Amino acid sequence: MGAAVRIQEFTAQGFRNLAGVRLWPDPGANVLLGSNGQGKTSALEAVDYVASLRSFRGATRAQLLGHESPMATLGLRVDAPTGAREYRVRLTRTAREVLLDGKRPERAVDYFGSAACVAFQPGDLDLVRGSPELRRRLLDRVLLRALDGYGEALKSYTRALKARNALLRERTPEARAVQSYDYPLARYGSALTRARGSLAAELREAVARALGALDLTGAPVELAYRPRGAPDAEAFTRMLAEALPQDLARRTSTVGPHADDLALAWGGKPARVVASQGQTRALALALRLAELHAVAARNQCLPVLLLDDVSSELDRPRTERLFAYVAALGAQLWVTTTDPSIAALVPRARLFQVRDGRVSPEHV
Ligand SMILES: Nc1ncnc2c1ncn2[C@@H]1O[C@H](COP(=O)(O)OP(=O)(O)OP(=O)(O)O)[C@@H](O)[C@H]1O
Ligand SMILES: [Mg+2]
Repeated sequence: MGAAVRIQEFTAQGFRNLAGVRLWPDPGANVLLGSNGQGKTSALEAVDYVASLRSFRGATRAQLLGHESPMATLGLRVDAPTGAREYRVRLTRTAREVLLDGKRPERAVDYFGSAACVAFQPGDLDLVRGSPELRRRLLDRVLLRALDGYGEALKSYTRALKARNALLRERTPEARAVQSYDYPLARYGSALTRARGSLAAELREAVARALGALDLTGAPVELAYRPRGAPDAEAFTRMLAEALPQDLARRTSTVGPHADDLALAWGGKPARVVASQGQTRALALALRLAELHAVAARNQCLPVLLLDDVSSELDRPRTERLFAYVAALGAQLWVTTTDPSIAALVPRARLFQVRDGRVSPEHV
């Protein structure tokens, strides 16, 4: 699977309630232990923010800045298979500055490639229960890291889609003008459909493996990519032409990867309606572990795994199985919990106390 990405140092200042955080995690397993509201999720969110440049809680920049601070600075020193890297991110209400080894990164893959993180957090239950957007974002997260050109295709596609939708919302949209976007939509959209389609096939296997590890194999899980576009540009163009009357009537674009889904079925029924609380959590976790596998397989490097409050709906045997499984993967692991007895289940972990926005090593 390739060598693991290991965070060697993490600093945070002025991000949510974090202040003066500087910690040196273990290359293997780490547990952040603390009571409610002390900053555990914020710490993982900060690490993941540096790696993905978005908040896993869907927060805006203004929401991430500490209530009293005009600026947040985050830093990661990373030992990646491609070498040592230093990431710095500075946020203000109006701007974001990103430095990789002291310079503005030139290509998206340079930046995202060597700080790969996969985060699981309680909001991820929406991967199973929520709208397709979150599932599309999971696909994009992997592909942005792994596939040169994917970021550019996504950007170009989104730009063309926005312009087309703006035309469709005009009082009397002109069909010819709307059709002038067919070329970029079909070209970039078909590239997105192809990439997502092959990724979905990889994810399907990895999800089944992770569920096996969690001992939740009872009902067969099906993961099906439901594209709303086509993998080749010609077929995509035909779909756009066929959809044109409908698009004019609905005043929006109905064909294309912006409407894709990754459908999840549990025992033949949509998972969102049949999965129990614990099954939902296990399924969401399995999707994140599949994300980890996919990034690892495509980038030849194993991402850091961040698990926020992972045990809250899993029973104890499954929590133990989970920790054993992730320890065996060899990825650097960060786990948060409020419960010292859960902390004790993580094999060979370095323990940190999180209190009032500060993180300190726990000496045992
Ligand atoms: N922008 C912000 N500025 C300052 N404090 C914030 C900001 N956003 C959230 N907080 C506060 O930061 C604290 C830590 O939140 P966080 O979600 O990290 O807690 P947690 O340790 O994960 O708690 P829990 O165990 O309940 O999940 C909370 O008191 C929260 O209200
Ligand atoms: Mg939390």
